Amino acid sequence: MSHDFKISTDRRVSLPRGSSRHKPALLGLLRSLGLDVAYHRAAGNCVYYRDDRGDEIEVLDLVAGYGTLLLGHAHPQLVAEAMQFLSGGRPNHVQGSVRSLAARLADELSARAERDDCVVFANSGAEAVEAAMKHAMLETGGRTFLALEGGFHGKTLGAVQLTATPSMREPFAIPGLKVIRISPRDIDRLEADFQRADDLAGLLFEPILGEGGVRPLDPAFIGRVAELCADRDIPLIADECQTGLGRTGSFLASSALGVRPDYMILSKALGGGLAKISAVLIDRRRYQPAFDLLHTSTFADDDFSCAIALKTLELLDSRRIDACREKGARLLERLRLLQCKYPGAVAEVRGRGLMLGIELQPHPDSPSFLFRALTARELLGPLVAGYLLKRHRVRVAPTLSDPLTLRVQPSALISDDHLDRFVDALDETCARLARNDVRGLTAHLSDRTEVRGVAAYGGLLTRQSYVEFRPRRPNRRHDSVPRRSIAWLFHLIDADDLPSFEPEFASCAPSERVTFLNRLAPLAEPVVMPSVDIRSRRGGVVRVFPLLLPVTSAWMKHAVAARQFSTVRALVQQSIETARDLGCELVSLGQFTSIVSGNGRALDGQGLGITTGNSYTTALVIDAVRAAQADRGFVSADSTIAVVGAGGNIGRSCAEILGPEFDRVILIGRDAPASRQHVREVARRIPRAEFSCDVRDVRLADVIVCATNGIDPVLVPADFRQSAIVCDAALPRAVHSDTARRRPDVHVIHGGVARLPFGEDLGVPGFPLPAGQAFGCMVEGILLCLESIRDTSFTGRLCSERIQQIAEIAKRHGFEPMASPPDLMVPAVTIP
Ligand code: F0G
Repeated sequence: MSHDFKISTDRRVSLPRGSSRHKPALLGLLRSLGLDVAYHRAAGNCVYYRDDRGDEIEVLDLVAGYGTLLLGHAHPQLVAEAMQFLSGGRPNHVQGSVRSLAARLADELSARAERDDCVVFANSGAEAVEAAMKHAMLETGGRTFLALEGGFHGKTLGAVQLTATPSMREPFAIPGLKVIRISPRDIDRLEADFQRADDLAGLLFEPILGEGGVRPLDPAFIGRVAELCADRDIPLIADECQTGLGRTGSFLASSALGVRPDYMILSKALGGGLAKISAVLIDRRRYQPAFDLLHTSTFADDDFSCAIALKTLELLDSRRIDACREKGARLLERLRLLQCKYPGAVAEVRGRGLMLGIELQPHPDSPSFLFRALTARELLGPLVAGYLLKRHRVRVAPTLSDPLTLRVQPSALISDDHLDRFVDALDETCARLARNDVRGLTAHLSDRTEVRGVAAYGGLLTRQSYVEFRPRRPNRRHDSVPRRSIAWLFHLIDADDLPSFEPEFASCAPSERVTFLNRLAPLAEPVVMPSVDIRSRRGGVVRVFPLLLPVTSAWMKHAVAARQFSTVRALVQQSIETARDLGCELVSLGQFTSIVSGNGRALDGQGLGITTGNSYTTALVIDAVRAAQADRGFVSADSTIAVVGAGGNIGRSCAEILGPEFDRVILIGRDAPASRQHVREVARRIPRAEFSCDVRDVRLADVIVCATNGIDPVLVPADFRQSAIVCDAALPRAVHSDTARRRPDVHVIHGGVARLPFGEDLGVPGFPLPAGQAFGCMVEGILLCLESIRDTSFTGRLCSERIQQIAEIAKRHGFEPMASPPDLMVPAVTIP
């Protein structure tokens, strides 16, 4: 259902103005998933936030500082230690002196690890990884590292080279350092992998691949790795940032695997949740004295962190470590029961001690489109995390490199009651997942109305090129005929379109749909709807891929009004890339997609033709007006025409072409300085034309053309003169849907609609036209494709030559203007 993955760092993205100064994209993503919670207090296994009413909400924290909080939040003895240190007048930073606390900590760590090590301190996990890498290079002279597929070692420039996830690593690839990646599942290839390089510096591994999805290594595999390292005399380096210090039930997880690494990296829990400290334990026989000065850091060896780490080690006694093992085993057993109970929700449960992972089942074939799309976008895990937080007040997070796996890393002090609470919450959640309850699992995303604005996630997520709505229907194709294809971009008219795509939303309130869509809008990706083949009378066939941008007109409009084009344009641009991937020759910009892209001019066509579709839309409007006039016996020279939205491309062209035929021309534009000036200039070029910014002036006109780009109807039944002809080319419609019923004298035409020569049904859910009809913008793409016009001559400012040209092409291929009966189509809208 989806295409290949791309790393979205391939293009520079600009942030909307006014977005947060701190991690704006991440904040936007958290907001979309209902995870944007600010915690103000923490103690033990719980964190606390205030809800919208100001009530304090307790949340059970199973993320526990990404494994840092093995002793929980704010452990009283650690807090006391910190206070004592700070008030005791002890110096913290006295570089170039005897660092007695660092020395004591080194002794203590070496003793606890039952080794004879020299210890290098650093400030974070990645920094300790860097120190280990540098030491290995110094020791061996090698420049090639072996690292595991699925491994995570941090994100600083050196460490990230060893981290496996391509999206994290590839944008920062550097020459000079080689990494050979070995598969933890392929013991037989190990020897060959070791032989691939003659300048090996070392091998890094995590005893349990943490960020890679909490996957314990096979002891036989790592045993063989240790042998091969010894053969080559390169250091075996255990990254125990996450697994070390007792979390997995033994002080070091590698000892449970039966290996004795040469270097050992520790971090996370070492700082007791209060200090930022990491350490590399290096076998004394390997330690290079020059490293004392070759690797230093202002903040490493600080007395505060060492004091906290010493106290932490004291508290992590054998009783606590046993507790990790026992509680973990009990929890694992209960999670395995859930897996048996809900095989459709849980794929696997893994881990050791209090480092567990729950791998969710992906939902690529779910009846729910949203589930399928979230699976494709790797957002099912984050969605479930949001649900558990908001519905059950339990905090879990997916692992960074395996987003379907939820990490469960509570503190060693977690109580049985808390574990019960977690298992019950998970049980309820899995039941919903198993029955595809998309509405229930997303209800928390519709329950707040203040979601506004256009967040930018540009480049934040590994993105796919597209998602397919559902498999294509073969009977809509004409495969015997040679075909070419185009894409037609469209978006939701409003939030009421949502149930057409996700029927479960039929029962929720309109305001909830709006909130839901606004919240998810920044995550929008093009959705490929089933294609349909459209035939010309002359024998040609064009396959049309309708590409849905799952955002509403109102959201687009808001983005334009706030001058936040970048996010919306990025979405349109992405649709062009999708069209290219689908093999389309040309992209037709429907609805607001042409407005937000400067009538197509701001887009990179990627070698594809682009059209706004506005020329044919205009031709259809003009044709419909003339047909209605002829029908009603209106003589233009005796009548008045009003054009609402005369500042826009279509409105202006209609005014320029139709206006000169009329006795009086009223051009109605928005009451804003730029718009006023622009419409006045248009009026100057048309004989007998005048400018107005009062939409009610339509009552002076016999013929009215509406080409606005608003989101609500601006004209109501009472606005029109007796027997007026009204051609509404706007979508969402500008004329209130009640007009035809309440004003039978008024002839309302929904302009911009064409009749297809062979009456094909486009079959797009929620599409507001009956079978056999299509919008002019889509048809223009079909026509240009039939005529092999693949350039951008139909973008930008409209001109009468093009309008005439496309009308002639349409006629030749058998496409006709649709003089629609007034009571057809368009879902009812209410007057605000
Ligand atoms: N090594 C391992 C095994 C890790 O899990 C991490 C971090 C690091 C190194 C890097 O440590 O972030 O302090 O620089 N893991 C985090 C996590 C990101 O989500 O568990 P850092």
